[in-house]
Amino acid sequence: MQLRVVTDQPWDVKADVLAIPIVGEPAFDGPLGELNRRTGGELAALAAFGELRAKRFTSSIASSGELAVGRVLTVSAGDAAKLDRETVLHVGAAAEHRLGGRHARSLAIWLTPLADVLDGGVEAVAELVARGIVEGSFDPKSLYPDDDAGHVTIGSSRSGTQMPPILDELILVVPGADAAAAHKAAERGVIIGEGANHAKSLSNRSANDISPEVLAQEARDIATRHDLWIDVIEPDRARELGMGMFLAVGQGSDNPPRMIVMRSGGEGEKDALDRHLAIVGKGVCFDSGGISIKPADRMEEMKMDKIGACTVIAAIATVARLAPGTPLLALAPAVENMPGSHSTRPGDVVKALNGKWVDITNTDAEGRLILGDAMTYAETLGATHIVDVATLTGAVSRAFGHLITGAFGTPQGWYDDVMTAADKAAERYWQIPLLDDYVPDMESWYGDLQNSGSAEGSLIKSGLFLREFRTVPWAHLDIGGTGYFRKTTPWAARGATGVTHATLVELALAGAKA
Ligand code: BES
Ligand code: MN
Ligand code: ZN
Repeated sequence: MQLRVVTDQPWDVKADVLAIPIVGEPAFDGPLGELNRRTGGELAALAAFGELRAKRFTSSIASSGELAVGRVLTVSAGDAAKLDRETVLHVGAAAEHRLGGRHARSLAIWLTPLADVLDGGVEAVAELVARGIVEGSFDPKSLYPDDDAGHVTIGSSRSGTQMPPILDELILVVPGADAAAAHKAAERGVIIGEGANHAKSLSNRSANDISPEVLAQEARDIATRHDLWIDVIEPDRARELGMGMFLAVGQGSDNPPRMIVMRSGGEGEKDALDRHLAIVGKGVCFDSGGISIKPADRMEEMKMDKIGACTVIAAIATVARLAPGTPLLALAPAVENMPGSHSTRPGDVVKALNGKWVDITNTDAEGRLILGDAMTYAETLGATHIVDVATLTGAVSRAFGHLITGAFGTPQGWYDDVMTAADKAAERYWQIPLLDDYVPDMESWYGDLQNSGSAEGSLIKSGLFLREFRTVPWAHLDIGGTGYFRKTTPWAARGATGVTHATLVELALAGAKA
């Protein structure tokens, strides 16, 4: 996709489609009035008809009258007072997503109505809209096209489907602005969007397609492409190292586990903020629950239990594209959680890499086991700060739904640093307390702790369990609710969402060296 920034007025732009963001109730004075006049009054007529509404992410497609574009697409951004970075990102994504199944090769989008309101102006809007348009183009149907052997090639066959169009050209229309600065910002947005799509395409792939070894091979390919160091730890070495929790989860499957470790920058090298940051992602390629088996209803969704791993692998690649050599570790413990005669049984007691004895009372609370050993290992590699990302609990989606990620962290200063990156990334989180009073509920009859207690407060207890397996500043992002959507939204297809990718990228880039 060619990216172009033009400082022309929107009515002078040529493209297949011109997208017009509507902020608040459409008011046909100023430039929107001029656009309306040149469409022959079409926009005002649509508004009068009730088709062009102020509700966020509603959209309409109108004829273009004497404009030099094929069609006009309006996308509502809601109230000006509530316009935040996430809304701007989703306006971009909604514009592209709305064109699903339509014939469009070039899309122009007028940024002024958004830039007039959002902090950061044209540059912030250019980055977020460009990223949104890239993210909005993703559709999981592209993963398994029926006319092509290359089953992971995104968009190899889209004709006759409702998939968003592959654009030859994206034109950002910013009359009177600094085109070079807007272009630079938009390029950054495109790269972050492509990284999120990469995470989504890995995450959406089915468990018969992506085993732990296949995920490791994907990571090796990425490492080669971006000149990253990689180490894939197989079960024999994991046993020598003492990764008892990690191995306990993987041992029930014929597809053996892989601890994937990637690094950009040097061994133990500190970044500009004096950190050796590690991002750790849960990579359960399929979570049947193991012997504590899950009910059949929606079990198919548990191929999504590797989203955390796919996200950290994509994020380190994105960081390598935007600021090569930035010190960063990515760890992705990859396993299949399956029942079988070799499986861990409820009540098995194993020794974690950090030496703690863990009583596995529920084999379906497996994410915390593999993450615990991965975090300890990250510290042995010199990590001074850790963020983990995991589809860890069902409880987080019962509490927060699909639009806000539950997060934990300690100390508070580190959590706040992660949230600064989150704000920049236009992603929403809500902090959950790590309440010490619940620690006794995780006590085991035999070991130092058990992996699952009673259902009350289980979301908090999942965080308390993880907290035992790190000694450095740590934050935990539970994407059990936000990692994938069951229904399409105006801005995104069903399936994996790419959530947290941008937060991790911004967090790492905050430490990029000049
Ligand atoms: N992967 C699941 C959590 C999950 C469920 C994420 C549904 C997204 C959608 C996790 O491994 C799990 O099974 N968690 C249990 C923990 C319990 C056994 C303590 C849960 O949430 O029920
Ligand atoms: Mn589970
Ligand atoms: Zn799981």
